[in-house]
Amino acid sequence: MFGVGKGAPVPCVGRCAEAPVSLPRAQKSPPDYIDYAAYDYTTYRQYKGQSDQVLHALEAANLRGLGGAGFKVADKWRFFDKATNAVLVINADEGEPGTFKDRHCLERNPHKVIEGALIAADVINAKDIYIYLRDEYADIRQILQIELPKIDTDGRVIHLRRGAGAYICGEETALLESLEGKRGLPRIKPPYPAQQGLFGRPTLINNVETLWRVQDILQNGIEAGSKRFYSLSGRIQKPGVYEAPLTITAQELITHYGGGLLDGHKFKAYLPGGASGGILPAYLANLPLGFGQLEQYGCFIGSAAVIVLSDHDNMKTVCTNLLDFFNHESCGQCTPCRVGCDKLSNMLRHTLDTDLAQELCAVMRDSSICGLGQAAPNPLLSALTYFAEDFT
Ligand code: NAI
Ligand code: SF4
Repeated sequence: MFGVGKGAPVPCVGRCAEAPVSLPRAQKSPPDYIDYAAYDYTTYRQYKGQSDQVLHALEAANLRGLGGAGFKVADKWRFFDKATNAVLVINADEGEPGTFKDRHCLERNPHKVIEGALIAADVINAKDIYIYLRDEYADIRQILQIELPKIDTDGRVIHLRRGAGAYICGEETALLESLEGKRGLPRIKPPYPAQQGLFGRPTLINNVETLWRVQDILQNGIEAGSKRFYSLSGRIQKPGVYEAPLTITAQELITHYGGGLLDGHKFKAYLPGGASGGILPAYLANLPLGFGQLEQYGCFIGSAAVIVLSDHDNMKTVCTNLLDFFNHESCGQCTPCRVGCDKLSNMLRHTLDTDLAQELCAVMRDSSICGLGQAAPNPLLSALTYFAEDFT
């Protein structure tokens, strides 16, 4: 049974990118060349009933949520210590522009993600697992429809639900509303989903890659927690999904994985965390991309969608594109975001009064209900800091 949502296609930022081992988008039948059958769920069986051991391993690996917020995973799971009737939701509604690493995980090995989910469900004692899957990932839906019935879920029920292209439904509380069959409007937090989530039940929501990494750490040791997947795209030779250390720099990513800039392009800027994470100049491409490293420069790594821009890109045009995106995807529920995104988008099209824009951005950051309105000013504010000349 599938849920239905409403939404719009996400505009492309930079060049569209394919993961190196990804499948063609419009594939009609699931791939038969990936041997999922070999997967045996040993790690789940080994750690079943060993919550303390699992939590200690995740703490030792310092695993943080890889959907973008970077909240410590063990801390989040500990909120469920005394919970009854808990639910686990896998957030597979990957919508941040330039982010396609969850798709990579689910295509490469959906069982690794499901094994991570079973481990999480065992720790928080959840009998129901919901997968909220981005509707554009039709090939993954086919894979899951074939693979899920083969899994011994140990009495748990895995529900597969479709999103429908609304970016805001990736926000955890909007996602819950959508799962409940309602319009995807973010809720005011607290209460957090851990306290009151899906149908009022304590709900753990984890991103796809986070669960992949849980499995990886328990199978391969805490060093596995020092890596993450980067979605690399833009003006580079080899866009794709690359697994690299948390501390890698954008310059290293571009040189060692991305094959350098496209011919005839000079490195000008990069977005470290998709549309939400701001814009940094090329001269700051030697900063480590780990959590908490970029905030002092007005940016953040988020979902690790690194989009490379060149001297062919004007930052005012880039910001207009991104603000149009946020304006289009705003759910319209709260005034700072609904009106603010629209105003910024209009100002960028006409005359940009930078003082007024900065004042408006401060209001949006301080008073929007959810991350969309709070983060929407990031690209503009950082571009004004580093590329003022592009706005004159
Ligand atoms: P958040 O910081 O509000 O929350 C992080 C997580 O910790 C949530 O699950 C929240 O429920 C939980 N939490 C925080 N404090 C808690 C408490 N006191 N008690 C119980 N639980 C608590 O961040 P949010 O809004 O969930 O995520 C924002 C991030 O999402 C952004 O940084 C952005 O990078 C990312 N994002 C990713 C997208 C993608 O496609 N991967 C799309 C859009 C945004
Ligand atoms: Fe909706 Fe924007 Fe308010 Fe979030 S910040 S609730 S997207 S209007």
